[in-house]
Amino acid sequence: MRSIAYIKEKYLQVRRLSESLCENLEKEDYIPQPIEDVSPPKWHLAHTTWFFEVFILMKYKKNYRVYNPTYHFLFNSYYESFGERIIRAKRGNLSRPTVEEVYLYRKYVDEEIFEFLDSQIEIHKELQLLFEIGLNHEQQHQELFIYDIKYIFGTNPLFPKLVSKMEYNVVPMQKAEFINVIGGVAEIGNDGMTFCFDNEMPRHKTFIPDFRIMNRLITNGEYLEFLESGGYNNFELWLSDGWAWKNTNQENKPLYWHKIENEWYEYNLYGLENLEFDKPVSHISYFEAEAFATWKGKRLPTETEWEVAATRNFSSEEDYNLLNNGVFSTRVAENSTQFIGDAWEWTSSSYLPYPGYRKDKGALGEYNGKFMIDQMVLKGGSYATPADHIRITYRNFFQTQKRWPVTGIRLAEDC
Ligand SMILES: [Fe+2]
Repeated sequence: MRSIAYIKEKYLQVRRLSESLCENLEKEDYIPQPIEDVSPPKWHLAHTTWFFEVFILMKYKKNYRVYNPTYHFLFNSYYESFGERIIRAKRGNLSRPTVEEVYLYRKYVDEEIFEFLDSQIEIHKELQLLFEIGLNHEQQHQELFIYDIKYIFGTNPLFPKLVSKMEYNVVPMQKAEFINVIGGVAEIGNDGMTFCFDNEMPRHKTFIPDFRIMNRLITNGEYLEFLESGGYNNFELWLSDGWAWKNTNQENKPLYWHKIENEWYEYNLYGLENLEFDKPVSHISYFEAEAFATWKGKRLPTETEWEVAATRNFSSEEDYNLLNNGVFSTRVAENSTQFIGDAWEWTSSSYLPYPGYRKDKGALGEYNGKFMIDQMVLKGGSYATPADHIRITYRNFFQTQKRWPVTGIRLAEDC
């Protein structure tokens, strides 16, 4: 059972981080929605606030006065349980409420939450879970904010910066090796003893043959070899849908790569820089990851293989590259397996319910279960994931053509 003091501290920490990520934004940066996937920063700040208002304050705080009922239409994302909402593609059309008004909305809800917590002697289990979900939800939006502002800035020819580049010890990437993993009956999934999302449960047994998996992520340099060898022009390497996606959209390189006067550059949140060959490649669609694996004569791991290998190789000593370290890009680190952090790793597993999965009741049942169609599972978190938000059992999911999230590649092979 979490104490009220713990919830307050955690609440403040998460809510402050969302605002501090926006510290260097200009007003104009809060508004654009260049593609449907990218929500305006202003919308993230308001939507995460709406979540606390409807899931906690309206339900549990006596005589709670809704800040502005119209905000419920503007800042509901996909919850049918909470009624009509603005269509996703139109989030960027909203010049009002202003950025200041959105910050006032946050302040109002924060004060009401604190007043509510101060009036409680203890927090029962259901409410505690709602706070944990509300805070984890906001952390997911912190990560989405990073993807979105990277798209807003990275597709702007001025290549604005969100942060200054952090200097860290650059080391050569360790040699790629395939680790042998003995198969058999394996257990994956979360036992639910500490917070997790419903899609990670139940923990269950499954069978896997012996396999081999790479000791690190694929680098920019390795991906460049694929590109320069004509990988994007060889239909034999591509899934049919991937070949069609590539041709229709004329894709021939990762999302933020640019070739300028015969030199390769990459946009990162601290600006355009020469492509660093040893860094893990990122912003790759499933189709590209799959074609690369085929070109290498390997394959992507299944989510079970990934989870078993990551569990066996996890070290709490390893300096994982997650949001809170200030790097804001994939990076090369000494002796790092990169199972956690750097880039979400595409698996070859479809995002489906685990055997025995039961979705949560009520509006929370809309959180994960209804998206279990036409998406692939990604594992491990990225440099945009808050450090206290990731775990080995975490199941992220995106459609095969998406590459505005921080996605990367790890290879596997049969024994
Ligand atoms: Fe959300």
